[in-house]
Amino acid sequence: MLVAAIDTTSATLVWAITALIRNPRVMKKVQEEIRNYGGKKDFLDENEIQNFPYMKAVIKETLRLYLPAPLLVPRESREECTISGYNIPANTIVYVNAWAIQRDPNIWKNPEEFYPERFLESSINFLGQDFELIPFGAGRRICPGMSLGVASIEIILANLLFSFDWKLPDGLVIDDIDIEMLPGITQHKKNPLCLVAKIPM
Ligand code: HEM
Repeated sequence: MLVAAIDTTSATLVWAITALIRNPRVMKKVQEEIRNYGGKKDFLDENEIQNFPYMKAVIKETLRLYLPAPLLVPRESREECTISGYNIPANTIVYVNAWAIQRDPNIWKNPEEFYPERFLESSINFLGQDFELIPFGAGRRICPGMSLGVASIEIILANLLFSFDWKLPDGLVIDDIDIEMLPGITQHKKNPLCLVAKIPM
């Protein structure tokens, strides 16, 4: 429970800020949405976060490109079956390559681009009904912590973007922020993300 909850949530937050710092247009747009609404408050709560459709699209796009569990959790087939002409014996371990599905050019336009707007124009969601987007899996083994995970990411990300301007350290340019991944069950950023947090004037 602890690994499934903490590792995934923290990895997603690091990937979200990584994607935003690499895409200043999106960073500006999402911060404007949050700050126009937030005004002079100190902290945004769960109710206020429901007014941020673009930030929710940013989270979806982060979970599309940088899903923390790229192969979901392994399954095992109970019965022999045939899929696309291939015979799959009973008791075969099955890995679902959600990473590849979520970057499939037959499904997604410009799949490698971080473009949250794609979710403003579509009803695709990660609740397990749309098999193009399954960062929490689907079916009976779908992540039981999805609601808590999403609520945590929303409130943390909204407040990090509301309270701070995020800048590159002196001497670094955007291209220095890489997206290399560590091997492992949870997909973490290989090189730590080091940014300067400034309180906006
Ligand atoms: C961004 C946040 C999270 C992501 C992306 C995520 C993703 C996943 C995925 C892909 C699976 C496997 C589902 C499948 O194979 O169909 C899973 C399983 C699981 N998750 Fe999450 N998770 C997140 C947060 C959480 C949280 C907050 C909790 C607990 C509070 C949690 C608890 C679990 C547990 C216990 C399982 C195993 C369920 C089973 O095998 O029956 N997860 N998660």
